[in-house]
Amino acid sequence: MDGYAHIAIDGPAGSGKTTVAHALARRLGVLYLDTGAMYRAVALLSLRARVDPHDESAVLTLARERPIHVSVDESSPLGFRVFAGEHEFGGELYGNDVSRVVSVVAAYPGVRALMVERQRAIADAGPVIMAGRDIGTVVLPKAPTKIFLTASVEERVERRLAELAARGNDVSRPALRAEIEERDRLDATRATAPLRAAADAVEIDSSGATIDEVVERIAALARPQA
Ligand code: DC
Repeated sequence: MDGYAHIAIDGPAGSGKTTVAHALARRLGVLYLDTGAMYRAVALLSLRARVDPHDESAVLTLARERPIHVSVDESSPLGFRVFAGEHEFGGELYGNDVSRVVSVVAAYPGVRALMVERQRAIADAGPVIMAGRDIGTVVLPKAPTKIFLTASVEERVERRLAELAARGNDVSRPALRAEIEERDRLDATRATAPLRAAADAVEIDSSGATIDEVVERIAALARPQA
């Protein structure tokens, strides 16, 4: 295989991993997938179907009936396309209503098993940069390059505020901070595949760094496959 193999980029909400992963993918000419979008699709599916996100078996039934699948496609706005059954989701995956409940559905082992299976199938097809929470630990434990990207809570709140404002969403700073802290707590303490750095991951703190700086650092670490 030529070029880069698999690059795993994990980290908490707002650490900049999706922006960095997408920019890195363009820079290296590799495909990119934000796996968080798949969990968001399950959350959105349950909201749209009026299935209570806290009802684990109902969410799992729905995820089996309307399978989430993704295709990596650099020419699409996100860099990949997300479908539930025949229906394609877009920017609505990143709305606040989805953000509020996504950690709940992402904690279900049955949902995770479905998503991990699809993520591995994509990785089996060729080189890809995957951003998420458990890519280096669970999905691609053999990835030659693993990054754990962090940033201070303050910086993550400011980034997310700016992102939401750009989309016309108005959220208060204290409410957003509480939401990010709660999401960190749920992601880090869940029983299945909690958010943590793989033992062989390189930890990068993106606080105060530009996207380009972080991309350059990772590009320098990325090992081309022999
Ligand atoms: O990165 P994000 O904020 O879009 O992720 C949405 C949710 O999905 C978040 O609660 C963590 C979860 N997630 C996960 O559990 N495993 C992944 N590989 C990616 C995201």
